Amino acid sequence: MEMLKNDVLLRAARGEKTERTPVWVMRQAGRILPEYRAVREKAKDFVAFVKNPELAAEVTLQPVDILGVDAAIIFSDILVIPEAMGLPYEMQEKRGPLFPETVRSMQDLAHIRVCHTGDYQYVLDAIRLVKRELNGRVPLIGFAGAPWTIFAYMTEGAGSKTFSVARSLLYNAPDFSHTLLQQITDSTILYLQDQVVAGADVVQVFDSWAGILSPEQYKVFALPYIRQICEAVKGVPTIVFPKGAFFALQDFNGFPCQVVGLDWNMTPQWSREQVGPAKVLQGNMDPALLYASFDTIKAETKKMLDAFGGSLHIANLGHGVYPDIDKDKVKCFVDTVKEYRH
Ligand code: CP3
Repeated sequence: MEMLKNDVLLRAARGEKTERTPVWVMRQAGRILPEYRAVREKAKDFVAFVKNPELAAEVTLQPVDILGVDAAIIFSDILVIPEAMGLPYEMQEKRGPLFPETVRSMQDLAHIRVCHTGDYQYVLDAIRLVKRELNGRVPLIGFAGAPWTIFAYMTEGAGSKTFSVARSLLYNAPDFSHTLLQQITDSTILYLQDQVVAGADVVQVFDSWAGILSPEQYKVFALPYIRQICEAVKGVPTIVFPKGAFFALQDFNGFPCQVVGLDWNMTPQWSREQVGPAKVLQGNMDPALLYASFDTIKAETKKMLDAFGGSLHIANLGHGVYPDIDKDKVKCFVDTVKEYRH
């Protein structure tokens, strides 16, 4: 077993008592650092960047060096899995992902498959490079999208305010929906297991579109698949981030993950009552706080730390950091957490 110099995040994720609250920031790799943009220039486009292990490793390490966070998260994207299953994507500048082909019927399933290791070898290579470069400084977080969120992109073909195509399929084609969700799940299980073998110390499942389902639908089309993933990924703590799914928090009481990520629309106290005393909570600062003054950031961050009570907590934002945030504001958030003692 490798010895980490700073393993406070790992110990907190396992539910152990720690000397201080660990902190990292969702979407810390990319978006806010000028250093990221400089490396990105070297690749033809976003997809080529993600597929280049040396460049991906380089930007994964930047927030560790520049922001002083307690973990690295591998630079990649949740859309690696659809691509590995046979559905390529493009990243349109300023507009987000686009899938030239979509999957919306049983017939369309003929074009996709459960992926295997060779389909995403570049991510595993990047993880190995990062682990070597980190040399035990901090743990490395691996990640994947949750099956429902990936389903939403594969069926819709792009981002959407309503995801009407994806949600209509749940009503009109439930058998197709479950078949596709299971194929995504099987792909994701192998993907995360491979990330752990390559060196990921923790894994996070991003369910970015959890909040657009009804409570009933979340129980049928989302949770059973995340459960399979959490049960299959062994040896490292698992974090599930069900963004917007306040209505499903109580379903995480007794759920086979160690950590539940919270967005900023719920209070720490209420969330704790929902998930029970055993879960570690991650979050949940409003990302827009980082537009405020340094003094306000410090004060609000301390308020948040007090509200979580100083144990069973990993500090983070309630969603990814916004692209136009000043990196010094992010550093202020990180430093405030690291200096705080309960
Ligand atoms: O946390 C990290 O910093 C690791 C890297 C990471 C990226 N995407 C890099 C990226 C992670 C964890 C993701 C996850 C991801 N990707 C999610 C889940 C998290 C969330 O925010 O809800 C989702 C929904 C996606 C899909 C995606 N990728 C979208 C909608 C976009 C376009 C807009 C944007 O910036 O989010 C991306 C592109 C993307 N992925 C960028 C980065 C750094 C920006 C692209 C660029 O460099 O031009």
